[in-house]
Amino acid sequence: MQILTTVNELRAWSRAQRCGVNGEGIALVPTLGALHAGHASLIRAAAEARPGRVAVSIFVNPTQFGPEEDYARYPRTFKADCALAEREGATIIFAPSVEEMYPVGSSTFVEVEGLSERLDGQSRPGHFRGVATVVAKLMIAAEADLAFFGQKDAAQVAVLRRMVSDLRLGTTIVVCPIVREADGLALSSRNAYLTPVERKQALVLNRAIRRVEALVADGERSSSSLIDAARGVFTEAPDVRVDYIELVDWQTLWPVLTAAPGTLFAVAAWVGTTRLIDNTRLR
Ligand code: PAF
Repeated sequence: MQILTTVNELRAWSRAQRCGVNGEGIALVPTLGALHAGHASLIRAAAEARPGRVAVSIFVNPTQFGPEEDYARYPRTFKADCALAEREGATIIFAPSVEEMYPVGSSTFVEVEGLSERLDGQSRPGHFRGVATVVAKLMIAAEADLAFFGQKDAAQVAVLRRMVSDLRLGTTIVVCPIVREADGLALSSRNAYLTPVERKQALVLNRAIRRVEALVADGERSSSSLIDAARGVFTEAPDVRVDYIELVDWQTLWPVLTAAPGTLFAVAAWVGTTRLIDNTRLR
């Protein structure tokens, strides 16, 4: 597995792939590393779409972490990540240093106004500015045709779609379904922080989602009733602190009064010191 560490190497690799393949480019799978089965599904989807032309980036991006957040302790499992990526069909790994992505004196950032302050953006000020900036840099460096993201980060997807459209980046965003453990917990690199007790408590996020899906299947459409029902589920886990429970339009992330097909129901909660998110697009 080839490991590239500079933007110039990534760009040269990408351009070489483009030669003679009817102009089709590469598929990019941006990650923070600590890869799990959710990432594996993104890499597999990318490999299906662009066999032999899949770049997986592994970069713990400092600008998307707040000062009190887990940048320093974010799991770094580079060797295992490379093995997983190769197994699932990655062609190269892009693993730049912080200085490579943010050269000394960097002062250019991408701000997706409005969307960046909703859902996770409310409790993580500056988070989406960091995400949009690094993903724009990665897409530009890789000259990516396709970029793969998980539905679990639904707000991130909305921000990045807007960014790609506004900046005319020419990369198509592909969104892959949430991958869950057998008991319903959405896969996240941060699940590694949970103690066995917290791991059980964390299931309340998925229970709240399933409750809302069941109510919608029974005909409930009122946003306040659905959110109240989800809050009720969270009372079963008093040690879990809700950050938000919201029913929003999946593109604008604005709250809606009535659930409609495609409406995003999203939750975020603190389980101990770990903040987890989960969501569903209602049918
Ligand atoms: O979803 C993530 O893992 C990160 O936010 C991303 C898209 C790799 C940007 O650092």
